[in-house]
Amino acid sequence: MAILIKSASEIEKMRVSGIALRKVHEAVRSAVKVGATTMDLERAAVAKIDELGAKSAFKGYHNYPAVLCTSVNNQVIHGIPNDKTILRDGDVVSVDCGVIINGFYSDCAVTYPVGKLSPAAEKLLRVTEASLYAAIDKAQAGGRLGDISNAVQVMCEREGFGVVRDFVGHGIGKSMHEDPQVPNFGDPGKGPRLKPGMVLAIEPMINAGSADVHVLADGWTAITRDGSLSAHFEHTVAITKDGPLILTQ
Ligand code: MF3
Ligand code: CO
Repeated sequence: MAILIKSASEIEKMRVSGIALRKVHEAVRSAVKVGATTMDLERAAVAKIDELGAKSAFKGYHNYPAVLCTSVNNQVIHGIPNDKTILRDGDVVSVDCGVIINGFYSDCAVTYPVGKLSPAAEKLLRVTEASLYAAIDKAQAGGRLGDISNAVQVMCEREGFGVVRDFVGHGIGKSMHEDPQVPNFGDPGKGPRLKPGMVLAIEPMINAGSADVHVLADGWTAITRDGSLSAHFEHTVAITKDGPLILTQ
């Protein structure tokens, strides 16, 4: 499938979706505290999504049961909210959420600290988020997709972190997943030419240890094979003639 180009008015609609999604994330962020369960985060998100008149992009997607993915510590992505998982001091929790408004999707993830982190955990979050912004910086018309991928890879591997290979970012628009795939590894100057009107969900998934992951028997939860901590930051980003436009902030 070709990479779909969005008009300025479509990008404006995607921005409306992204701004709503940001509000959902803010509601979840306020619910992240020592002693909260991941289901508490889910409830905060459901309430905000309803209040905004948005629709969840995740719930029902391949039968996924929740509006959030809440992935704690060694969980990489797609952790399912539940009332048994209690957030403890020093944990990290990756919160991924997507919404649909007026037919347009937005997708965004943040890894939050719970209480006081170890210096190592703090560094993982800091570098993973920085790698997302380094990648967004490369979302320039005239560049190549590989420039984006490489920016994440170089920044994270320099710190000895494992760049997850088994999951990638994606184009996004009237569907959650469009072409192209957006890997977090690759060569600069390679891959499709970036053009104004492309909208990409850029989402580094970075492990403190090895890049290897493994999906649990629930069919969703991806965990690090070596038990190391993992972080995930994601923005929905439009490429415009004036540079990258982050739609989810
Ligand atoms: N945010 C994820 C992605 O980028 C989708 C989550 S899968 C779902 O692909 F089932 F939870 F929707
Ligand atoms: Co995504």
